[in-house]
Amino acid sequence: MKKLCEDIANAIGNAIRGYIGADGGERILYMGADGTPTAMIDDVAERAALHVLKNDGRSLRLVSEEMGDVILGTNPEFDIVLDPLDGTYNALRGIPFYSVSIAIGKNDLSQIYYGYVKNLVTGDVYAAERDRGAFLNGEKIRVSTRKDTDAYCASIYGCAFARDFLNQNGKKVRLLGSAALELCYVASQKLDAFLDVRSRLRVTDVAAGKLIVEEAGGVVTDDFGVQLNNPLTIKERVNIMASNGRIHDDLLARLREWNK
Ligand code: IPD
Ligand code: CA
Repeated sequence: MKKLCEDIANAIGNAIRGYIGADGGERILYMGADGTPTAMIDDVAERAALHVLKNDGRSLRLVSEEMGDVILGTNPEFDIVLDPLDGTYNALRGIPFYSVSIAIGKNDLSQIYYGYVKNLVTGDVYAAERDRGAFLNGEKIRVSTRKDTDAYCASIYGCAFARDFLNQNGKKVRLLGSAALELCYVASQKLDAFLDVRSRLRVTDVAAGKLIVEEAGGVVTDDFGVQLNNPLTIKERVNIMASNGRIHDDLLARLREWNK
């Protein structure tokens, strides 16, 4: 699995190089299966991934951000949930924060057993296998130990409390623009939490990062504190709260307070 993911990530990295911060990549080609427009850079990235998967020859079900659901071969062994380029906007603007996200599993988000996210700028690879821990470039990673009373730092999308939060006890908000990588930042202590409650994220954005956070000792739920088990389909929308666990209840309480 790791080798297959590396091959996909390398192929994507090479394919999009000419479009980073340059003209042309932003041209909209068609409406993607996820219901959002597909830019040239997304299409090029996805084609590169598909080429690797077809050459690999295994039979699988692919759920990818632009193409949606594709069956390769005749007897699919597993599902691959792929975001060929997470952080398209950043890549097009030349903002150095974008990634490829690959998750392997079956049926729904609770059954992902391998997650791989590569930062396409730095080359950092975050990976996790169910029950075997999470790793950054081969080194084991753990979530932070900050508590709700500490000055913790969260990436917060779509919550009214984010503004208010900025003024409280030195708490920090950072919005970085690649959900897959922001989840890996929670797994590796760069952030203490990641929340997106806009009902906009797709399973392709979060499938790999969710497992990576959990294997690093963190907690991942929806905005009501319930485990995520969304089906692995491209039309599905996900609200997500990922944290180091210690601040999860505090964030849920803030959400409840603001939604009253
Ligand atoms: C986007 C990124 C971004 C999130 C957007 C997504 P894309 O994915 O994950 O962080 O805020 O909602 O659409 O379109 O760059 O693959
Ligand atoms: Ca994405």
